[in-house]
Amino acid sequence: MSANASSTRARQLLASAPVIPVITIDRAADAVPLARALVKGGLRVIEVTLRTDAAMEAASAIIAGVPDAVVGLGTVLTADDLARAQKIGAAFAISPGWSDGLLKAASAGDFAFVPGIQTASDLIACVTAGFDVVKFFPAVPGGGLAALNALSGPFPSVTYCPTGGIGEANAAEWLAHPKVCSVGGSWIAPASAIATGDWAGIEARARAASRLR
Ligand code: 3PG
Repeated sequence: MSANASSTRARQLLASAPVIPVITIDRAADAVPLARALVKGGLRVIEVTLRTDAAMEAASAIIAGVPDAVVGLGTVLTADDLARAQKIGAAFAISPGWSDGLLKAASAGDFAFVPGIQTASDLIACVTAGFDVVKFFPAVPGGGLAALNALSGPFPSVTYCPTGGIGEANAAEWLAHPKVCSVGGSWIAPASAIATGDWAGIEARARAASRLR
């Protein structure tokens, strides 16, 4: 099964991003200073989750105001979300899961899309549709590295971006796995740091994360 254009593009993009900060923005005004801090700390590829009312405005503000950032939309749940990501000029879209509608819409073009998986059946659906770069979510609650090792056996072509429960203490361990291209997580820019505008702290955590691989 060969990879489709969307997944090939996702693979290229994630190859340059061992650590992807997953950010959830409540106030669109925080978006640009937050993204600047991440880029300054060495993390250019950023996932903005579609979990708040401000998310689209925040992602658009980063795309317009921080040209060095490579912005993707996360928590993409529907083909509609995927279309919105493309419309605002995001570089990629990433989902905690998959559906027939999402895989069909993404495989129709070359916009980078990373579906989420948890089980062998999820992997069969994604690989059959041509997606061989997937998000392993939630990574730690879903069985951790032992689960990833077990899933790697029957699906040798698949590369993973684990997220969920990854932080400073265990990111290096995940990144050392040969099938892991990138890890993602909210530990670099947690809600508390965004709420208080602690851009220096976010930059420092980004710098530490950028040195993990
Ligand atoms: C995601 O959407 O990737 C996760 O919510 C990130 O998980 P974390 O908050 O445990 O890092």
